[in-house]
Amino acid sequence: MRLATLALAFAAFLTACGDEDSSEKTLTEPLIQFQRAAAGQVAHGERLSRVLGCSGCHGTDLQGENWSEPGFGTLWTANLTRVAPKYNDEQLAQIITSGARPDGSQLWEMPSHLFTDLAPDDMSALIAYIRSMVPVGKVHPGPKWEEGARREIAAGTFKPSSAMVEEEGKLWPPDAGEKHNLARYVIRATCAECHGMNLEGGQPNLSAIPRPDLRIVAAYEPSQFEKLMKTGIAAGDREVGLMSEVARGRYSHLTDGEIKAIYAYLQALGTTLQ
Ligand code: HEC
Ligand code: HEC
Repeated sequence: MRLATLALAFAAFLTACGDEDSSEKTLTEPLIQFQRAAAGQVAHGERLSRVLGCSGCHGTDLQGENWSEPGFGTLWTANLTRVAPKYNDEQLAQIITSGARPDGSQLWEMPSHLFTDLAPDDMSALIAYIRSMVPVGKVHPGPKWEEGARREIAAGTFKPSSAMVEEEGKLWPPDAGEKHNLARYVIRATCAECHGMNLEGGQPNLSAIPRPDLRIVAAYEPSQFEKLMKTGIAAGDREVGLMSEVARGRYSHLTDGEIKAIYAYLQALGTTLQ
């Protein structure tokens, strides 16, 4: 109630200034980027690197990690400290959002489709953070596929990152009204990686543990959801495997405001379904 009154008062103030179009922009656009917990670009970029999983996949030192699987193939996440100096900011942003390098070579297993709509300010903070790292360590080899990967590529179930961008790079989780746009933005760039752009969950392959529909959060108390995000412990004091790990590694770096926004959005989605 009080929030609504405040918003009305604010809107009236802006209309009084006489520029209705731009007032609408100033009301909505600043909401659609991650909250600014830290003033500096590098510190903001470091937080985003945790939440978005860059640090999880590329290593907290961003020097790349070995993700190879015998029988499937050799795959390293890139040493970003070595890659960054080769490109200008625009090219780096282009690689991150398109899943391919300027020379046309493809990336694999880099979830670029999640990053296509990162706000310019969030993207430049990420790049500032990557550039703040001194270039050290080895440049890792490109992917080399074995039988397992070749079979999945032939079957069309394993695709280069640019193909994922083509398929999913324009999709968004369901719209639940403007006041939920921050949550929708955050979730698109991270939870959607495993729970899907429609947030309906599913199984990436037959041996994987199914990911629930995120509308399940409608059954959570706010304090239970906050605990899951910050400590990885789900309602009923359960460890939930990959989800617990990803919460501790990534979502313990969400702000309290972002956690509240995500909860409110998933509640709104969950209750419209019933
Ligand atoms: C799920 C794991 C994963 C996540 C999350 C991830 N990456 Fe990657 N990234 C990879 C892999 C794997 C490669 C190497 C792909 C290849 O060599 O084909 C890569 C490649 C890259 C490259 C290209 C490097 C080159 O060789 O030109 C850049 C730049 C990059 N990632 C930046 C990021 C940033 C920034 C984030 C966070 C916003 C991020 N990545 C999140 C897995 C990931
Ligand atoms: C790297 C993959 C991954 C990402 C990213 C991810 N999840 Fe999950 N999530 C899972 C998996 C797998 C499960 C099922 C865990 C199990 O039952 O063992 C799960 C389960 C859950 C559950 C149900 C927990 C319960 O009560 O059993 C919730 C709620 C949830 N995720 C919320 C989120 C939210 C919110 C985000 C983004 C902020 C997110 N997840 C991002 C993989 C992921």
